[in-house]
Formats: sequence, C-alpha cells, structure tokens
Amino acid sequence: MMSQDLQTAATQVRERAYAPYSGFKVGAAVRAASGAVYVGCNVENVAYPEGTCAEAGAIAAMIAAGDSQLTEVFVIADSPEPVTPCGGCRQKLAEFGGGDVPVTMATLGGVHVTRPLADLLPGAFSAHHMEA
Ligand code: THU
Repeated sequence: MMSQDLQTAATQVRERAYAPYSGFKVGAAVRAASGAVYVGCNVENVAYPEGTCAEAGAIAAMIAAGDSQLTEVFVIADSPEPVTPCGGCRQKLAEFGGGDVPVTMATLGGVHVTRPLADLLPGAFSAHHMEA
C-alpha cells in the first residue's frame, strides 16, 4: 500500500504528542512533492487556544525543510472513528495541497478512510478569490 510509510510515521510520532489536557494524542504525516515525509503531533498548552494540531506541525516541518507541495496526508488517533482534521487544519492543508490530494484518516484500531482534500473543504477560500 502506497501510504504504509506515512501510516508508520504518523503512528510513531503520535506517541510523542503533548496532550496532557485533552488526553487525545494525534499524529500526522505528509508526503511532499520531493518524496520526503514530514511528521507532526499535537502540542497543547495550559492556555488552551495556544495548542497546535498534528497537521499544523507536519506542515511546519515541511515548509522548514524547503518543501511546499503536499501530495498525500495521513492522520491517526486513538478514536472510535477515524479522526478528521479540524476546520483550521483543512484550510492549512489547502494552502499547500490541491483538491485531489488524498487525506487518509485512521484509528489505531485499523479503520482507514481516504478522501480527497476537496471533499474535506468544499468551496475553499483561495488566492483566486482575491483577484481584482
Ligand atoms: N487535534 C489534532 O491535532 N488534529 C486533528 O485532526 C484533530 C484534533 C488535536 C487538537 C487537540 O490537542 C486535541 O486533538 C483535542 O482536540
């Protein structure tokens, strides 16, 4: 399976999540156009709104490494149903990935759902909307 390496990477980084407030650890792995894989986990804060999502961490790692185009996304958590990226993270993913980018949402128990990014954020706000 093409995303096996992403699944492994996301599952491993999830263990490093800092989630003492929610107790909900999330791992994300993204593949970029170069082929490189970048990972992120959620990092919470005692000032709750300052916490960051796993997807945001993976995107930050990708940009810091010099990649800027997503080709595949994988998100995993220990939830009864596959964890879905929050609204803000959908917009963050859309900044660096086309609507056809596959986003796989998974549970530790082995349930996987894959949807194109466009399905997660229909009618996404884009630079096109700011054209005069
Ligand atoms: N969270 C993520 O990191 N990614 C998601 O896709 C869903 C939610 C985090 C944010 C917070 O630290 C915890 O999960 C509970 O919402």
